[in-house]
Amino acid sequence: MTNFMKSKIQKLKQDALKEIKSSETFDFLKNIEKKYLGRKGELTNIFHEIKNVSKEVRKDIGKFANQSKKELEIALKEAGENFKEATASKILGNDWLDITLPTEKKLGHLHPLSQIQYDIEDIFSSMGFMILDGPELESEFYNFEALNIPKDHPARDMQDTFYIKSKHQTPNAKEKSITNNQISNSQLVLRTHTSNLQVRAMQKYGAPLRAIFPGRVFRSEATDAGHDTTFDQVEGLMIDKNISIANLISTMKALLSGIFKRDVVVRLRPGYFPFVEPGFELDIECLICGGSGCSVCKGNGWLELLPCGMVHPNVLKYGGINSKKYSGFAFGLGFTRLVMMKYKISDIRLMLGGDLRFLNQF
Ligand code: FA5
Repeated sequence: MTNFMKSKIQKLKQDALKEIKSSETFDFLKNIEKKYLGRKGELTNIFHEIKNVSKEVRKDIGKFANQSKKELEIALKEAGENFKEATASKILGNDWLDITLPTEKKLGHLHPLSQIQYDIEDIFSSMGFMILDGPELESEFYNFEALNIPKDHPARDMQDTFYIKSKHQTPNAKEKSITNNQISNSQLVLRTHTSNLQVRAMQKYGAPLRAIFPGRVFRSEATDAGHDTTFDQVEGLMIDKNISIANLISTMKALLSGIFKRDVVVRLRPGYFPFVEPGFELDIECLICGGSGCSVCKGNGWLELLPCGMVHPNVLKYGGINSKKYSGFAFGLGFTRLVMMKYKISDIRLMLGGDLRFLNQF
């Protein structure tokens, strides 16, 4: 009995080893494992039979069967690993990737607004101006009152304002002392211009001061080719002893020739802004139509681009600066329109529309 069972086990083992050796796929190996070692496998069945043999021979045959099972398990494992290696090197051989090849995908690029913003920042940094940032959600105080535009002043209607239904956050100690609670009673607005940072900058840095504030502003108005509800401005402020209109004009010239890198036709005319005195409008001849009239310049050949003027003494006072000692100029560049002129873009609504066919041109 012992010999008969042993030779049966031996035969099964040899058949299995032969099949393992000749198998070519993982599936094949799995089938062999099932055929011999599975729940109803041929070697497993022998283990069931061993239970029925006499106690004396059971131990001997059991040991032999276990040994054979172990050998099969090892052979299956080794064959499996060989397959893994072969498959991996086959993939590496046929399916490799040269990661040093240049990609066909386009890299990201700067939005034209950002490109020109950085150019403007470079121009003003080289003239010693700081680049400052500030809140888009602003108190009416900094957006209007501190700029010499009190409540109910008709000049508030010059800029259609988005008012926010919320109380202003508690002012900090410095704001409190300067404004006697004007800020805490002040409603929040989406800033209508970057001029909101004029008094903030004066309060923080005092005089002398040279700074520009590029940023996004918001107005509740109907849109057309030249007007949007969200657009960008760059505010500039220079305060020092003996600052005059001559300083203002030369700085504006430096700005425009730096941006357009060519001669542009400009005109200066009187303009009214309560926070400057005197105030000016610097217009640029429309570069889209060359001055003959189009939808962007509304047919008059000129585009209002750069309002500016000498800082009003009341504003200096709000900023804590002595207007007898210091004077200054300020300007508020319609920066989105400047980008439109530079790239001859005929509709402002394309600028923030997010259309990739438009953006990929830059
Ligand atoms: C102002 O916003 C003043 N804060 C500018 C200023 C600063 C004057 C400092 C004096 C001293 P105004 O509302 O005109 O001014 O706007 C300034 C520029 O923003 C305009 O010349 C124009 O180029 C641009 N702008 C105004 N409204 C729109 C609009 N809806 N869409 C696109 N650009 C606009």
